[in-house]
Amino acid sequence: MTETPYVNPLRDPSDRRLPRIAGPCGMVLFGVTGDLSRKKVMPAIYDLANRGLLPPGFSLVGFARRDWADEDFAQIVHDSVREHSRTEFREEVWNQLAEGFRFVPGAFDDDVAFGNLRRTIDELDETRGTQGNHAFYMAIPPSFFGAVAGQLKEHGLAEPKEGSWRRVVVEKPFGHDLESARELNDILGQVFDSGSIFRIDHYLGKETVQNILAMRFANNLFEPIWNANYVDHVQITMAEDVGIGGRAGYYDGVGAARDVIQNHLLQLMALVAMEEPRSFDAESLRIEKLKVLSSVTLPRRLDLATARGQYAAGWAGGEKVIGFCEEDGIGARSTTETYAAVTLNVENRRWAGVPFYLRTGKRLGRRVTEVAVVLKKAPHQPFSATSTESLGQNAIVIRVQPDEGMTIRFGSKVPGTAMEIRDVNMDFAYGGSFTEASPEAYERLILDVLLGDPPLFPRHEEVELSWQILDPILAHWAKKGRPEDYASGGWGPASADAMLARDGRTWRRP
Ligand code: BG6
Repeated sequence: MTETPYVNPLRDPSDRRLPRIAGPCGMVLFGVTGDLSRKKVMPAIYDLANRGLLPPGFSLVGFARRDWADEDFAQIVHDSVREHSRTEFREEVWNQLAEGFRFVPGAFDDDVAFGNLRRTIDELDETRGTQGNHAFYMAIPPSFFGAVAGQLKEHGLAEPKEGSWRRVVVEKPFGHDLESARELNDILGQVFDSGSIFRIDHYLGKETVQNILAMRFANNLFEPIWNANYVDHVQITMAEDVGIGGRAGYYDGVGAARDVIQNHLLQLMALVAMEEPRSFDAESLRIEKLKVLSSVTLPRRLDLATARGQYAAGWAGGEKVIGFCEEDGIGARSTTETYAAVTLNVENRRWAGVPFYLRTGKRLGRRVTEVAVVLKKAPHQPFSATSTESLGQNAIVIRVQPDEGMTIRFGSKVPGTAMEIRDVNMDFAYGGSFTEASPEAYERLILDVLLGDPPLFPRHEEVELSWQILDPILAHWAKKGRPEDYASGGWGPASADAMLARDGRTWRRP
């Protein structure tokens, strides 16, 4: 594909500290009425415009089966921006942005509508200088990817003109299992080349997640102990305090493992466990992530090394809440898990014998995502047993959210005349060290799509390997019927505690 990258003549392109501003371009959004568009995509576009990172002629085309004019679409975006954008609302930014809004009504099988979409894009190239550069954002269920991709191809929308680009953005779920993921990829691959397909795993857009690599590879403090000689085990937790909300249609039959472990948690694990990449370009990162994901093995006894649960009624945030099977749209006998925990091994020299425990759940005690690297005890402690009674294991905890930062836990003498050693925490908090607020993950990722910058987007091979890890666990669970109940507001099913207890360990209570 011939593509001329946009180069701002006033900037040295190799200086990665300077703000990167997208060149002339536009975006077409499919699924404008969905939650993802309203809560994430539209606000992020406004935030990017507000930060001066979009080109002046940036254009946003909404496509949906609604009888709307451009102004109606603009009103929808306006409401979403007012409610969900991160940065303050500025009339002049909004007015300039809204000039580039267009709406094309139609269904995904409507040829006339896609013809109109083509004309709209041509008009934008003429009047707003988008120069043929357009990203197609599929904020729609994957079952429609094929229809939309086919229409884009049919109407010559997927093929860039000389010197311009066309890209497609897709969101998880990237399939239901390995086989369906491959099918999905084939569908997209028939229309777009692999370099033009951007898969969003929004965890990779989070500052704290990108910081895992900065912390590991910019310092000399952590890497020497980042291996089986010093690390006892790793716990990766993504806990949510909310239930499934209005997402029954998506969530039932999907469950916690497919929703979160297959993508966010395995990507986090890959960043924690991988070797140093040659550079931070997409290719080098991918090579290292693929190496580590392909070294993951499952314990032999999946009944003992995994756990799953479903939230029952209980209390959350001081309010009485209903159980999963009572939620609107969920059948009384649903076997979908809302909690999942798995034990994974990484069969390489660095990690041999170090289990990685991954867990996620809805309606747990607190919203928190963290990576805890728990170290082995010191090989010898020249203290009496009573002095170290309340000393735990040292730990390096990357706090992904909320309260973004890092904690190092180690033992310290309690002040006084006796020798007593207790755990203390050393803390780094983003808020205390930086004045800049972290952008939302979607701001970073949408900007990267428009810039054509791929390192933060998982490639198909990573998606496949992740399914390869998960499929046997899902097959094992499918044979077992209903997951175990756990009380809302607690920390998951008893079997998850038992899973760690068998290894002589306990989950952290963040
Ligand atoms: C999504 C999942 O990918 O991530 C949701 O589908 C989950 O179920 C969400 O609630 C959590 O994202 P965040 O950024 O709030 O941790």
